[in-house]
Amino acid sequence: MKFLKNVLLLAAGLCLMFGSAKGAMAASAKDNYRTYCAQCHGMQGNGQGINVRDMDVQPRNHTDAVYMGSRSDHDLLTADKKGGLAINKSVLMPPWGDTLNDQELHAMVQYLRKLCHCQEGKQ
Ligand code: HEC
Repeated sequence: MKFLKNVLLLAAGLCLMFGSAKGAMAASAKDNYRTYCAQCHGMQGNGQGINVRDMDVQPRNHTDAVYMGSRSDHDLLTADKKGGLAINKSVLMPPWGDTLNDQELHAMVQYLRKLCHCQEGKQ
């Protein structure tokens, strides 16, 4: 629970830091990934962010074409927007729907497809 609290505090801090810049200019999906996702999923998206040693459920390796190819764009979008629980995955995957707008969330799914070099239903 303490860990989760720290994660939420960190996320809240990031929102404060970057929230004001958000309105002025939409950040690229890559920038958003590096800001919000990399601490768990790693800068390269390989699931090796700095948080992993403290996590019971390991963050997904977004460069894994076999796994990622088995996921639908809809599931990736739902996970990004509403968090892991929304697709029966771990609560350690936080929801981003209050941080990223719909356009940014759709762009994020495209960025995830770039990281895995895969498409929905294909490896
Ligand atoms: C606090 C750590 C943490 C952060 C920050 C985080 N994630 Fe995750 N994420 C996880 C964990 C843990 C899982 C694995 C959940 C599971 O397998 O039950 C996961 C899984 C996922 C999945 C896979 C869902 C599936 O279908 O298996 C996607 C997509 C994803 N994250 C996207 C993102 C994006 C995009 C961001 C940034 C906007 C992000 N994550 C930020 C921890 C995090």
